Formats: sequence, structure tokens, C-alpha cells
Amino acid sequence: MIDVIILLDRDNAEPAFANALALAFKVARIPLATANADRLAHARVVILHSSLRRQSEVSLLASILPEERRKSDTIYVAPGSDRAGLVQAEALGIERIIPSFRPPGDIRTAVQSILNRDLAIHLAGRSPHMAKAIENGDILYRQAGAAMRADRPLPPEILGATTRAISEATRREGLGGWLEAVKLHHSGTCRHMLSVAGNGSAFGQFLGLYDTDIAMITEACLLHDVGKLFIPTTVLEKDGPLSDREKRLINTHPARGAFALQRGGRSAVEVIEAVRDHHEYLDGSGYPNGIGGSSIGWLTRIVTIADIYSALTEGRSYKVAMPPRQAMAIMSEMKGKLDDRLFTAFRSMVLEPVFKTSRGGRDKARGGVREPCLKSGKHPLDRANREDAA
Ligand SMILES: [Fe+2]
Ligand SMILES: [Fe+2]
Repeated sequence: MIDVIILLDRDNAEPAFANALALAFKVARIPLATANADRLAHARVVILHSSLRRQSEVSLLASILPEERRKSDTIYVAPGSDRAGLVQAEALGIERIIPSFRPPGDIRTAVQSILNRDLAIHLAGRSPHMAKAIENGDILYRQAGAAMRADRPLPPEILGATTRAISEATRREGLGGWLEAVKLHHSGTCRHMLSVAGNGSAFGQFLGLYDTDIAMITEACLLHDVGKLFIPTTVLEKDGPLSDREKRLINTHPARGAFALQRGGRSAVEVIEAVRDHHEYLDGSGYPNGIGGSSIGWLTRIVTIADIYSALTEGRSYKVAMPPRQAMAIMSEMKGKLDDRLFTAFRSMVLEPVFKTSRGGRDKARGGVREPCLKSGKHPLDRANREDAA
């Protein structure tokens, strides 16, 4: 499934708004004359950029795009000031019509409103905590992308609200319920951000960590791939293998994300480190800097485990979701790369059925924890165990 398909006619050059949309959505461009019902069925939003002067193209569109979709999922962007195209679009039942002189942001907003409507419909049957956390995550995803591309700091209000909402949702509804709800979001990049955050937040609760540590883990997990928001969605969410050039581009994301957060000046140093180092391994075989051992902080080690587990267990258009046990088996083979003790604890959380549907060991483990550990230099398990034993 792609977000947007742009139908172009042969008389007009490729519109400038297409590139702007490709930064935020998964976009395909095809000539209107070659469009068919099957291709349109795989797009959530259809943008028609055609003068609609040829009756054959108007008839084709009417036959391959159902009336309901023309009304609710289609945007007509008139290529010129010709009234004839507007009249044809209205006759086709298209309600969203944007004159070509409007800025690209207007088209992006129209696309987003269709995608938001779909998300709201999906969330209708969910608990209020789930719905709120997903909605906040969706807003954060969009605002973070816009902020990164415009060289602005991340909006702290929505980041804080999303962090709290995800912790609340996983605490009340369980990790399994959260991961099910996350699947409803249309963007694979946003789904990944939310599933890593849920896995990280639940892990912090499972370890019995202090609330500020859980919040820091959730925030770092939400932001770990923020550098990917600089990369066009067509590369990021490509259906299929990446070229070497595309891989090199994607591999810039840890450094770009960390740099952007540092420049924003509002993130904790541990969070910036986790964003920069989340693809590093303890044995020095990761990237971008090949650091290892004690150079990799506790928060980063947690984010890395949540990230790898999420990536393995998420479904994409080109791969099926891997069952948790299989993901655990693969991660067990990553000897020397992950923090052994944290991974063993993470595996206990994932494979412990009780935690998937209810509160985890948080209450039991939290007991006498009196202060946060992630900034103290103590291994999170030493902290939790020591306090447990007390
Ligand atoms: Fe990453
Ligand atoms: Fe990731």
C-alpha cells in the first residue's frame, strides 16, 4: 500500500508539489493514460494532476476509480487556470479541488486530512488511552518531520505528551495491545517509531525503573530514527531491496538525527547519544563510528535491543512479521553485540505471557527504587536488583 498516487497527463511537466509530497509520504507517479483499477486500489489517496481535456482520460478515470473514492479520497490539482478541468473534476464528483497556484503545503494538508480520517476510523473501537497515544504519536511524527526539514527544534509539548501517553497505554493495556494498535498507522516509519517506544517503555516498567528513567527510554526510542525524517519516504518505505546508494543514504540517519537534536538544544545528552549510537554494537562491529564496550551507554543498549526486536517483529509490504520466539532466537545469536543481561531480561519480558495483557513486574520490582539510574552510571539491572533485595 502506498500513501499517494499522482496521476499525470502527458501535456504537463512533472509538478513541483510531487517532490515536496515525497518528503512526507510514500508517493508514486504514473501517467493517467496507463492507470488501472488495481494500481489505484493500492493507494490511500489519489491526486489527479491533469487538464482533463481528453474525454478518453475522463472516461478511463470514471471506470477505474469508484465514485466513493473520487468523492472521499481524491484531490484534483488543476495544472493551469483552465476552467474546463475544474468543471470536469466537479462532474466526476471530486470534492477536494486545489488550484495550482496554492503552495505545496496546502496539498500536503489535504493528503494528511484524508490519512487522519482513516486513522480516526481505525481507532474508533480502541480504548481512549490507546487512541490518545497513537494520535499523539501521529502528530509527533508529522511535526518532527516538518521541524527537522525546516531546521527547527522539536516541539517539546507534543514530545512530552506522546512519551507520557505511550507509557500510560502500555501500563494500562499491556504491551501486546499496544503493538496491535500501532499496526493501524499507515506509515511504516511511524509504526516503527511507536513500536520501539512501546517495547522500550514496557521494558523500563518490567525492570522496575523509576518513572523519569522510563520517560527517558520512551523518548529516546521515539526519537532514535528521527534522522530518517530527512530521507525521502520513497527510499525509506521502498517495497524491496535498497540500492547501495540508498543504503548509504539511510545509514546517515543516526548522525543526522543526533546532530539535529543537539542543535535543537532541548534533548538530554543521554538521549542524543542513544540516537547517535543505536546501531553500534558492544563488539565494535556497528556503525557509524564502530565504537564498543563501555563507550556505549545504558540507555543506548536498551534502545538498540528494543529497535532490533521491533524491526524483526514488524510486518512490511515486503516481509511478514516474525514471531517473538523466532526474533529472540535471532537476537540470541548476536553474541557479544548486545548487552547480555539486558537482553536476557528483555527476553523474559517478551516471552512472559502475563506481561502482554496486563501490568508487568513493575509494581513488584519497583519496590524501593528511590532515584533514577540511567544518569547514575549504574547498570539498570544492578539498580533494580539492589533495590529489590533491600
Ligand atoms: Fe536506526
Ligand atoms: Fe529503528
